[in-house]
Amino acid sequence: MQVIDIDQLSKITSKLPNNPRVLVSGNFGTPFLFLSALDKQLATYRLNMLNAQPGIPDRDGITFESAFIGAGMRYSDRLEYFPGRLSLVPRMLRTHTKPDLVVIHTSTPRAGLVSLGNEVNVLPAAIESARKHNALVVAVVNPHMPYTFGDAEIPLEDIDYLVEVSENLRTKPHVEPTEVALKIGQEIATRISDGSTLQLGIGAIPDAVLSALPNRKGLRIWTEMFSDGVLDLRNAGALDVRSHITASFVFGSQELYDWIHLNPRVRMRRTEVTNSSGNIGKQPRMISINAALQVDLFDQANSSRVHDRIYSGFGGSTDFIVGALNSRGGLAFMALPSWHAKTNTSTIVPKLIDPVTSFQHSYVVTEHGAAHCAGASQRQQALNLIEHAAHPDARDDLMKAAHDLNLV
Ligand code: COA
Repeated sequence: MQVIDIDQLSKITSKLPNNPRVLVSGNFGTPFLFLSALDKQLATYRLNMLNAQPGIPDRDGITFESAFIGAGMRYSDRLEYFPGRLSLVPRMLRTHTKPDLVVIHTSTPRAGLVSLGNEVNVLPAAIESARKHNALVVAVVNPHMPYTFGDAEIPLEDIDYLVEVSENLRTKPHVEPTEVALKIGQEIATRISDGSTLQLGIGAIPDAVLSALPNRKGLRIWTEMFSDGVLDLRNAGALDVRSHITASFVFGSQELYDWIHLNPRVRMRRTEVTNSSGNIGKQPRMISINAALQVDLFDQANSSRVHDRIYSGFGGSTDFIVGALNSRGGLAFMALPSWHAKTNTSTIVPKLIDPVTSFQHSYVVTEHGAAHCAGASQRQQALNLIEHAAHPDARDDLMKAAHDLNLV
């Protein structure tokens, strides 16, 4: 391992092939200072990141690549979207999207190890792919990155170059949940009993569910990601103090990052562990809570595509839905507002036009109620969705559509 300054990056870039694939810590673990310096050294490259946030380099010569699109890449004409559930992205990094350079953003070293901190995710697999295929690994070492345990800990031997920076991590501003999100949160919370294990998806609604749970006891967390809501549950005494909080990435406030730093209760695991449907199915009373943009009368959800373009991706939603359905006492919730105000349309639609991201949910939940789906007949699913989840103004049209589709 060689320690170099941020103005010596040509030592790295001179060893890369033309148009290299550069895989960088995504979500809220991106090393922006380093990325900006690297960008000056490379005329053309493929920037591969998950849920990239605004502020990444964006110009001709850069091709964006991602299996989960964040606001930093969304709607770009230079975006290559790679559809795939998150649990399988590590495999693709070994077989199809092999990186030429892996850039990890880490804590400062401790006893021969650095920690990936708030973003573990697919990075251990990316490092393994790099080691196997003769690619390079750079650690951007930052005293602001929390030191987290588990698969976050990377031996210094796995790193080719170490670059020191000092940069605050991105934080996620707190957004007050809307009245609709709170109603949906309460609807789901009534079905969550003490001792359940929770997975929380991305978006406003999963956050709102947590705010309805402070009186529960013994809750456990097995999730792909978590945010400040988990800290609130811990402060309210709602979490099982004997079990680890298992997650693969974290984003939220500086207080949250301070809390995960050297916290033995938080066990960061690589995606292959957190998102394995087998592991998820072993959790007691596993409750998965994910959001959709539209759900149709066949209980098929679209969580990834709007305006005829990719908006996000599958993420771990399918991994957790299948896992929750396999867990004893588990439930998979798919949540969405019943009406999309901007387009003035129902979000419960007769039949999806956009690609399906998941199906067979235990309940589809809107602010009007919860429609029981998994285990019900096709006919009953459609009726439940119309009567318990759809906006009242959409119900007549949906019932006519259900007849036309031979569902009722
Ligand atoms: N028709 C048309 N547009 C719609 C729509 C509908 N029915 N529903 C939402 N939209 C638009 C919104 O207007 C917004 O577009 P804009 O930014 O141009 O205004 C966009 O879609 C996103 O909607 P929003 O309600 O803000 O989404 P969100 O932040 O609550 O996230 C998902 C919802 C579904 C996009 C998000 O949960 C996701 O990406 N899920 C898939 C991955 C996943 O579940 N991972 C879980 C494991 S971590």
